[in-house]
Amino acid sequence: MAKGKVVLAYSGGLDTSVMVPWIKENYDLDIVTFTCDLGQGQDINAIREKALKSGATEAFASDVRTTFMENFVLPALMANALYEGRYPLATALGRPLIAYEMCELAKKTGATHVAHGCTGKGNDQVRFEVTFRTLAPHLKVIAPVREWKMTRPQALEYAAKHKIPVEATKKNPFSVDQNLWGRSIECGELEDPWNAPPPAAFQWTTHPEEAPNNAEWVEIGFDRGRPVSLNGKDGSLVEIAEELNKIGGRHGVGRIDVVENRLIGIKSRELYEAPSAVILIEAHKALEDLTLSKESARFKTLVAQQYADLVYNGLWFSAFHQDLMAYVASSQRYVTGKVRVKLFKGSAMIDGREAEHSLYSKSLATYDEADGFDHEAAVGFIRLHGLPQATQARHQLLASSAKVEVPNLIPTSDTK
Ligand code: ARG
Repeated sequence: MAKGKVVLAYSGGLDTSVMVPWIKENYDLDIVTFTCDLGQGQDINAIREKALKSGATEAFASDVRTTFMENFVLPALMANALYEGRYPLATALGRPLIAYEMCELAKKTGATHVAHGCTGKGNDQVRFEVTFRTLAPHLKVIAPVREWKMTRPQALEYAAKHKIPVEATKKNPFSVDQNLWGRSIECGELEDPWNAPPPAAFQWTTHPEEAPNNAEWVEIGFDRGRPVSLNGKDGSLVEIAEELNKIGGRHGVGRIDVVENRLIGIKSRELYEAPSAVILIEAHKALEDLTLSKESARFKTLVAQQYADLVYNGLWFSAFHQDLMAYVASSQRYVTGKVRVKLFKGSAMIDGREAEHSLYSKSLATYDEADGFDHEAAVGFIRLHGLPQATQARHQLLASSAKVEVPNLIPTSDTK
């Protein structure tokens, strides 16, 4: 009988490199590696070569940056998706795309298994495996890191024994994942939430205190919620994100330091660097401030939270997502215009905004002569708006001092 095949999500790092011989030894499968470029700044062809040198039967590498930006990041940007209000979801957005590509490759190569290098404590295992189960339920999943119980020194030893090239490990003490939408940093010193973020954790951003003393302005053009230009020059999403990562990073913009609630119930200290995500989301929100009605804007913040949760929780390929997206996309039809953002020592401040279909009316807002607001109308409005509260005060709040008794929700031994 022909040997089975496994498609392995291969980053070329220590763990996934060790996985090549380990899976062969423990599962007797041919290894097909898959590496993709999400804008993490690695040479994926060199990684592909390394996979072959490490014993993979076949090795694939593809540049999926455009798909990542168009089909994964743009929807999240339109939704202003920030997990727990802060994390722009770079890693969480990348996983379903990688998993999708692996399912496609499994089909193409006739693989029976898929494998990833995630641990048993994180969100990424969930994102990968939920996607596999959704798109290709016949594939069996191998998660070596969950099984092999090797420490880092043991993994290094295993690599040496199997002649796996491991870069002269200058012992990166952090676990890092990065793509065009941001850089996620975990582990090491930062596991103690009392520790200040270790300077070595950051690679894309200058420390705000060391950022230039002169501010820099960027102007972002949007067409129905989609960034289309930077400083007056049209560009693709990939180009705009790349450029903003550089400019923003130089000014120390996009450092995020959080204690985050993982799906599997653990609280985790995480650092992120996401200059372009932070700038683009801020700018996009500023344009929505001009173009969405109060009700739409309020409702959209609820949608943003749901949206961020579903992405974080690995439910990208769900009908709920499609339904929410339909609302988000529809909400973007007047979000066209431009926003000027001032970058200065770690901050990205909105400095100006302008929209084709702005709901902002100078003649209504102004206190100058051009005032077009009917001041008389305010009198009746206030009377009606305040009527229920005034009535309540007369009958309740000012009339009696009824006390609240809160029932004890945990029974005590003397409550029989
Ligand atoms: N906590 C983030 C998330 O779940 C980032 C995970 C980063 N992964 C890593 N291997 N460092 O999306």
